[in-house]
Amino acid sequence: MANKGFSAAAITVAALLLLVCLHIAEAEAKAKLGREKAKLGREKISHLHFYFHDLVAGKNVTAVPVASAPTTKFSPTGFGTVVVMDDWLTERPEATSKMLGRAQGIYVSSSQENFHLLMASTFVFESGKYNGSTLAMVGKNAALEEVREMPIVGGSRLFRLARGYALARTHSFDINTGNAVVEYNVTVLHY
Ligand SMILES: *[C@@H]1O[C@H](CO)[C@@H](O)[C@H](O)[C@H]1NC(C)=O
Ligand SMILES: *[C@@H]1O[C@H](CO)[C@@H](O)[C@H](O)[C@H]1NC(C)=O
Ligand SMILES: *[C@@H]1O[C@H](CO)[C@@H](O)[C@H](O)[C@H]1NC(C)=O
Repeated sequence: MANKGFSAAAITVAALLLLVCLHIAEAEAKAKLGREKAKLGREKISHLHFYFHDLVAGKNVTAVPVASAPTTKFSPTGFGTVVVMDDWLTERPEATSKMLGRAQGIYVSSSQENFHLLMASTFVFESGKYNGSTLAMVGKNAALEEVREMPIVGGSRLFRLARGYALARTHSFDINTGNAVVEYNVTVLHY
């Protein structure tokens, strides 16, 4: 009998503890939501500047064509070509300058009349305070224009809820290899 009484008491205590825990978890979730709400409207603006190396030939190839259509070879714009890249992002135009991260994704020749590319790329940062954070860029790259603008549609870690734009200008293009170095200025709003 005494044993039964003891277990009933134990169950009551356990139930109370569980309630307290649930209450704490709920309060924590509310506090977290409160902290995130308090940040609304207090976005930061960040500017990033880097050089993008798209290397299709040489000892360090960073971009590889993976697909095309049977008609691609007859297209003046290479319509249908799909290239996968793991391009370098460096601080200076020189490939030997500080490595800031990678641009990982694809670019696709997506216009029959113009040299327009669809770029779908994740900027994966690997140094400094942005190490481990990413930005997603998706949009049209009018490759022959002096300055191309592409949308930044999101991000992760320090760039959560990011939105903004990237301006790109070809810094150098090697006509023999097809290797290109492109200067990027990225402006993003994020929390
Ligand atoms: C480029 O290639 C060379 C030779 O294969 C290699 O030593 C070097 O680490 C590569 N650079 C990068 C940044 O991967
Ligand atoms: C970036 O973060 C990774 C993982 O935390 C770490 O291993 C690496 O050393 C960091 N790189 C730099 C340049 O800080
Ligand atoms: C990036 O910004 C720098 C500094 O304002 C400027 O000199 C450069 O022309 C810009 N490049 C692009 C591609 O917007």
